[in-house]
Amino acid sequence: PHPSPARDQALHNGRWGLKAVAPRLWNALPESLRLVGVVGLEIHAQIRSNTKLFSASAVRFSSPPNSLVSFFDASLPGTLPVLNKRCVEAAVMTGLALNCTINQKSLFDRKHYFYADLPAGYQITQQRRPIAVDGVLNYSLMGGKKKKNQVVRKSARITQIQLEQDSGKSLHDDLQSQTLIDLNRAGVGLMELVMEPDMSCGEEAAAAVRELQLILQALGTCEGNMSEGQLRVDANVSVHRPGQPFGVRAEVKNINSARNLARAIDYEIQRQIQVLESGGTVQNETRAYDSKTGIFFLCSRFMPDQAVVVQEIRDRLPELPHVTRDRLVHAYNILPEHSFTLVNEDGLVEYFEAVMKQTRMNARKVIGWVTNELLGQLKQQDGSVGQSPISPSALAELLELQETGQISSSGAKQVFQEMWRSPGKTARLIVQEKDLGLVSDTEQLHGICQRIVDSHPEEVNAIRKGNKKVLNKLMGLVQKETKGRADPVLVQAILQDKTS
Ligand SMILES: *[C@@H]1O[C@H](CO)[C@@H](O)[C@H](O)[C@H]1NC(C)=O
Ligand SMILES: *[C@@H]1O[C@H](CO)[C@@H](O)[C@H](O)[C@H]1NC(C)=O
Ligand SMILES: *[C@@H]1O[C@H](CO)[C@@H](O)[C@H](O)[C@H]1NC(C)=O
Ligand SMILES: *[C@@H]1O[C@H](CO)[C@@H](O)[C@H](O)[C@H]1NC(C)=O
Ligand SMILES: *[C@@H]1O[C@H](CO)[C@@H](O)[C@H](O)[C@H]1NC(C)=O
Repeated sequence: PHPSPARDQALHNGRWGLKAVAPRLWNALPESLRLVGVVGLEIHAQIRSNTKLFSASAVRFSSPPNSLVSFFDASLPGTLPVLNKRCVEAAVMTGLALNCTINQKSLFDRKHYFYADLPAGYQITQQRRPIAVDGVLNYSLMGGKKKKNQVVRKSARITQIQLEQDSGKSLHDDLQSQTLIDLNRAGVGLMELVMEPDMSCGEEAAAAVRELQLILQALGTCEGNMSEGQLRVDANVSVHRPGQPFGVRAEVKNINSARNLARAIDYEIQRQIQVLESGGTVQNETRAYDSKTGIFFLCSRFMPDQAVVVQEIRDRLPELPHVTRDRLVHAYNILPEHSFTLVNEDGLVEYFEAVMKQTRMNARKVIGWVTNELLGQLKQQDGSVGQSPISPSALAELLELQETGQISSSGAKQVFQEMWRSPGKTARLIVQEKDLGLVSDTEQLHGICQRIVDSHPEEVNAIRKGNKKVLNKLMGLVQKETKGRADPVLVQAILQDKTS
């Protein structure tokens, strides 16, 4: 079928394929008849290094155009490449962290193609013997068939990790119909990670990319900022029926955020399912933009060897995200899904641990505060943990007030909201100003409870007849009257006394 605006609109609205249109019929189909997605990723990660892969030019984001270009980067005749040892070590370290086999000897190849931002007319890359092969990326996602908050473990095989040069950038100026070239990025070291098609949907791909980002950041081999192009993801997407060969694939290229990656892949899967279910065929194509096709040549010159000692790098491996998660689960006796949220949110582990150092509150209660209250507020404003107006020690002070019985939990939540609105005000000050302290004056509470009991004879009767649950309703009414400040233990005791 030809593309049509109406169908595109339907796809956007999520009304696609048998699964959406007739979910019962889809569920009734044996698995072997259901079309499912197959996703493979290719990821380019810019190596965090002071200098480029084969030259001494500095590597910096957003410098003036063409200010970081050596004669070699501009491919002037007579210049020679000198391999940057730091880049080799970064690729080896990344390979080790991903359980790859490190090739004791690896080679560079020239990939020839013509493109304005590639002055040499070829890219130096690795085709026949890359640095690392046969690894695995373990990752997890939230959700499961029964429990929504379950951590589901998955893995995707890594075919290889190769070192190669980044290209320059072309800036198209349509007004003056000219193209400007910035060679600052030309020759920056890239690790290209090629993965097997082991994923089945956008959510899995996004979770895998997030885990890889965390690993690279922990290793310090790549800063991993997708919007700055330090991590660039391409995906091969096809659909098939389980047990049958993969279908024709389409390539989705150059995606700049994990969320867009998930969307683009799911859109493409649904598009292909729609095409196949309505009797069409999927075209073998690249969506978004055409890949540059290349031919490989052997490097004709021997470069000086660059030897690194793999065992030394293995010994230097830092704590990886999955180890951090296990450590948090054991150290604080929290659930795996909590450690997952902590590690996946930038800066949240540090925040949580800083709070834990300054409060006696139990870790699971602190987790509730950090993941519900703090993250909830931040998400509403699209902010990051580093932008929180409430510092870990300010939150710890608030939690201490709750923990030592000076405020109730609902009072604490009110104080939190106020702290958020007025940065710098301490919890203690807000409790004083707003009179949010716990009411534990027995006489005052007796008075309030008596009024509630007197005005609710039916409820009191029900409690006397043995329906103890109704007591909660009365407790709620007392809290309503005191704006959530009444000491719940006292209130319960007083009410029990008055209704027995
Ligand atoms: C991936 O998970 C498997 C199974 O849990 C484990 O044996 C393997 O060591 C893990 N690999 C990495 C690199 O974490
Ligand atoms: C992969 O991980 C396993 C388990 O951690 C380890 O025993 C094995 O040596 C690793 N393999 C490579 C090639 O690093
Ligand atoms: C990534 O880069 C963008 C653009 O420079 C910046 O706004 C953003 O804060 C960076 N993200 C992180 C996590 O550093
Ligand atoms: C898609 O598959 C083709 C053929 O195997 C490969 O050349 C290409 O690099 C793959 N692209 C991605 C993004 O995996
Ligand atoms: C897709 O097209 C490429 C190049 O045009 C070709 O090499 C490849 O075999 C095709 N793949 C399929 C599955 O048709």
